[in-house]
Amino acid sequence: MAAVQPAPNTPGTPPAVGSPPPPSPGQGRGPVAEGELLSGSAYDLRLIRRLWRYTAPHWHLLLAWALFMPLTIALELVQPFLFKYALTEHMIGGHLDALPLDTVAYMGLVGAQGASGFCEQWFLQLAGQRTMHALRIAIFDHVMEQRAAFFDRIPVGRLMTRMTNDIESLNEMFAQGAITLVADFIKMIAILCLMLAFDVQLTLLVVVTLPFLVGLVEYARRLMRQSFRQIRVRLAAMNAFAQEHLSGIRVVLLLGRAKIATREYDEINAGHRDAYLPQIRADAAMYAIVEAIGRVAVGIVIWYAAGHRAASVATVGIVYIFIDYINRFFIPVRDLSAKYTVMQGAMAASERIFQLLDTDEPDGGKSDPAITAREDAEDPLPPKNAAAIAVEMRNVHFSYGAEPVLRGIDLRVPRGATVAVVGATGSGKSTMIKLLTRLYERDRGAIKIDGVDLRDIPLAELRERVTVVSQDVLLFAGTLAENIALGKPYERVKLDAAVRRVGLDRALERRGADIMAPVSERGANFSAGERQLVAFARALLRDPEILILDEATAHVDPEAEGLIERGVAELMKGRTTLVIAHRLSTIRNADLIVVMDKGQVVEQGTHTELVARGGLYAALERTFRRQEAE
Ligand SMILES: Nc1ncnc2c1ncn2[C@@H]1O[C@H](COP(=O)(O)OP(=O)(O)OP(=O)(O)O)[C@@H](O)[C@H]1O
Ligand SMILES: [Mg+2]
Repeated sequence: MAAVQPAPNTPGTPPAVGSPPPPSPGQGRGPVAEGELLSGSAYDLRLIRRLWRYTAPHWHLLLAWALFMPLTIALELVQPFLFKYALTEHMIGGHLDALPLDTVAYMGLVGAQGASGFCEQWFLQLAGQRTMHALRIAIFDHVMEQRAAFFDRIPVGRLMTRMTNDIESLNEMFAQGAITLVADFIKMIAILCLMLAFDVQLTLLVVVTLPFLVGLVEYARRLMRQSFRQIRVRLAAMNAFAQEHLSGIRVVLLLGRAKIATREYDEINAGHRDAYLPQIRADAAMYAIVEAIGRVAVGIVIWYAAGHRAASVATVGIVYIFIDYINRFFIPVRDLSAKYTVMQGAMAASERIFQLLDTDEPDGGKSDPAITAREDAEDPLPPKNAAAIAVEMRNVHFSYGAEPVLRGIDLRVPRGATVAVVGATGSGKSTMIKLLTRLYERDRGAIKIDGVDLRDIPLAELRERVTVVSQDVLLFAGTLAENIALGKPYERVKLDAAVRRVGLDRALERRGADIMAPVSERGANFSAGERQLVAFARALLRDPEILILDEATAHVDPEAEGLIERGVAELMKGRTTLVIAHRLSTIRNADLIVVMDKGQVVEQGTHTELVARGGLYAALERTFRRQEAE
C-alpha cells in the first residue's frame, strides 16, 4: 500500500523504531505525548535536510524559481535607475518630449517585473504544494500501517493536527518564509552593490546603520523565541480541550457541563492570548524601529550630500536614487520578524511531523521478523481447511499496559463448529479477538489457525480468512453499496445477493431506500440494527473461512431482532464461527460454550451440561434470561 515511503533516517540520526528519537543537545524534544514542547529554533539543518527529501523530486520547479527570482530583482532595481535618468536628463534637462517614451519604458519594466514575479511565485508555491502533498501521503500511509497499540499512544486529535495545521505551517514557509529570505538577501546585496557603484561615500554612510539593524534583529529574535514556546504549549492545551469537549458534546450537554466548560476554555484561551503579547510587541517594535532607522539613513544621505556635494543635476539624481534604494533595502529587514515567525512555526511543525513518522509500530509490516522468516521459507503453508481444529489458543497471556487482561486462555474451535464465548463485561472477550486478528500481539502463549501459528500467516491473508463483525459497526460517508464492498471490486449481482441473504433489503424497504442510499459520516443516518445488517452483508461478501461475531449488547426492536437473527444464521451457515454472545438464542444453539472470567476460561461445555453444573454459566444464564424477559 506504500505510495510514498517515509524517508529513511538521515545519517547521524539515531534509528528510531518504536520510540521517539532521544533528545539532541540544545533541543527540548520530549516524548511523543509531549510533542508540543519544542526548541523554537527557526532553522535546524537536520530538519531541513529531511524535508528536502520530499522537495527534491521537484527540484526543476525550484530551479525555475531560481532563474526567475534574480530576473524579478533585476527588473525591479532597474526602475529607480530609469526614473533617475528621466528626472535628470529629460525633466530637469528640458527634453520633455522624451517623457512619453520614458513612461512606456517604465511601464514595460513594471509589467515585466510583474510577469517574472508571477512565474517566480508560481514555481515556488507549486514546489511547496507538491511537497505538502507528498508529506501528507507519507503521514497517512505511515499511520495506516500502524497496529492498534499505536493509536492507544497517539490521540486522533494530534494526528489530525499533524496532517492539517502542521502541514499548513510548512506550506507557509514556501509561500512567505525561508525561501523568500534567500531572495531578500540577494536583493539587499544587489542594492548595496548598486549604491557602491553610484557613490562609495554615501553607501558607507548607509552601511553605518547596519550594526544597529543586526543587533535589533537578534534582540527581537530572542524575545520571539521565548514567546513562541509559550504559544505552542498553550495552543496545544486549547486544542486538546476543545477537541475533547466537542467530540463528547452530548455528554457535556446532558450532564450540564456546558457553562463550566466555557469558563475553563476562556481561561486557557486567555493564557494563549497573553502568550502572544511579547511576540506582537517585538514584531511591532521591530517594524517601527527599522522604519525609523531607514528614515535616519535617508536623512544622513541628504544631509551629507547637501554639505559635501556640488549643487548640480547629478547630485539630485544621486540623492534621488539613494532615497529609493534605501527604502527598498529596508523593506525586507522590516519584514524579517514576520518571516522569522513563519520559519519558527515551520520548523516546529516539521519536527513534530518527523517525530510522528519516527513513531513506528508496524502492523505486521516488513520489520516483523516472524513474517519475513515465513515469506522466505521454502515450504508452503499447509492447505487451508485441512486441520480439524480451526482456531486454537494455548496459554495466551496479554496486557495493554501493566494490568494483565488475559491470563492463560485455552480455547479450541473445531472446524465448522459454532463456539460461543460468554463472560462478564471487561472479562477480556473482545481482547481475545483482537489477538486473534493480530490487532494486538499476544505477550505469551500460542495462537494457531488451521494448525499454523498466527505469526506464520501473512497478515493480508489472515485478514481474508478471518472476518470480524464487531459490536459497534462503523459506516463511512458514501453510499451503502460502497460501505458493503469497502473498496473491493465486487460484481453487483454478488452484492445484491449478500444484501438479500442477510435481510438488509427488507430493512431498507421499510425506509424506502436501496443500497445506493447515501450514508452520512459514521453512518449516523442508520439505526444500530441497520448498521448490524450492513456489517453482516460486508462479512458475507468476503466469505471468510472463520467468522468472528462480537454480538451487539444493545437490543433492538423485535422485528429488527428477527431480521438480525436470520442474518446471523445465514452468515454462520457452513462456517467456523466464534461468537461473543449476548443473546440467549445464540448461546443455546452453539456447539460449545466457553465461559470467561477475569481473563481466564473457567467453564466449557454445552448449554445443558453447563446449566446442570450450576456454576458461573448457570448464574450468567439466569441474568440473560431476566434481561430478555424485560
Ligand atoms: N485499548 C485498551 N487499552 C487499555 N486497556 C484496555 C483497552 N481495551 C480494553 N482494555 C481493558 O481490557 C479489559 C478487557 O476488555 P475487553 O474489551 O476485552 O472486555 P470484554 O470482555 O469484551 O467486555 P464487554 O463485554 O463489555 O465488551 C477491560 O478491563 C478494559 O478496560
Ligand atoms: Mg467487548
